[in-house]
Amino acid sequence: MTKGKQTILSGMQPTGALHVGNLEGALRNWVKLQDDYNMFCCIVDWHSLTAEFGDTAPLRDNIFQVAVDFIAAGLNPEKCAIFIQSDIKEHAELHLIFSMIISVPTLTRLPTYQERKDELDSYGFLGYPVLQAADICVYNADKVPVGKDQEKHIWLANDLAKRFNYLYGPTLVEPEALFTDIPLILGSDKRKMSKSLNNDIRINTTDAETETRIKSFFTDPKKIRRGDPGNPDMCPVFLLHRVYTDDAEKEIAPPCRTGELGCVDCKLRLSTNLNAALAPIREKRAELMKRPDDVWDILNAGAARARQRTQAVMETVRNAMKTDYRKGVS
Ligand code: TRP
Repeated sequence: MTKGKQTILSGMQPTGALHVGNLEGALRNWVKLQDDYNMFCCIVDWHSLTAEFGDTAPLRDNIFQVAVDFIAAGLNPEKCAIFIQSDIKEHAELHLIFSMIISVPTLTRLPTYQERKDELDSYGFLGYPVLQAADICVYNADKVPVGKDQEKHIWLANDLAKRFNYLYGPTLVEPEALFTDIPLILGSDKRKMSKSLNNDIRINTTDAETETRIKSFFTDPKKIRRGDPGNPDMCPVFLLHRVYTDDAEKEIAPPCRTGELGCVDCKLRLSTNLNAALAPIREKRAELMKRPDDVWDILNAGAARARQRTQAVMETVRNAMKTDYRKGVS
């Protein structure tokens, strides 16, 4: 790892094969960042357990599929450590320490907790953002690339680092969110694109399946046939055109508005462009699927790099807390 560069920690839950929302909302940005930062890309399997503790069988393949998509999308294992959270026990150690210095009401107030507290009432779910703070701080990460929905979690990580430093002396880097302009992408039903809503377009799918999915997309309900004027603003198909079609504002929006361009044609054009954009990623993906051992090797090497960093940071933590009891004793 190059000295002088800032450090980034990014995390994603292993939901299995990723969709274009993950790709355009996070991954493409990470791929750009890996040139300028020391990057650690963590597949946060323990976080998945906060909701999926009852059904752990799919975890292994879900982790694998995420790793494949990471690499296929252009994360370069030479530049960026790609690894599994549970391979690095220091995340759990710092999480435990952080859990001592955070108040329960701070956690119960968080909107992410409020939204799901009726369905998830475990101690672990309440601690979700504390574990996330540990994920970040155990690398002394300067920056965390996230969407706006994670803003409070990164604030909490910053607050925990500050608290730690106040209690035990300056030790941890106080991390900050790195917000970048990411395109808005919605699913076929106009809700946030998500695998669990089954409204997504997977990276790992065929051109034909992609086309079928795009045909099922919700459009302006007032535009029923070609000739009817449409409203591209907030049409989920147009949002994707903005990402995948050159000059969408000129080529797609005006003829949609006048009615010249029908939804069927519009969707076909999107399918062609989206499939063309994903082709190199899909090719790389197919190639990686033929050599799964190499993917696991990449995750092992990533873990070794991650561990080097976290062990060093945890030494400074124990030192600051005076809990390195054997030190100086022979
Ligand atoms: N909570 C994040 C999300 O839902 C996932 C996550 C866990 C994460 N640990 C992280 C993101 C550390 C960034 C850094 O997207």
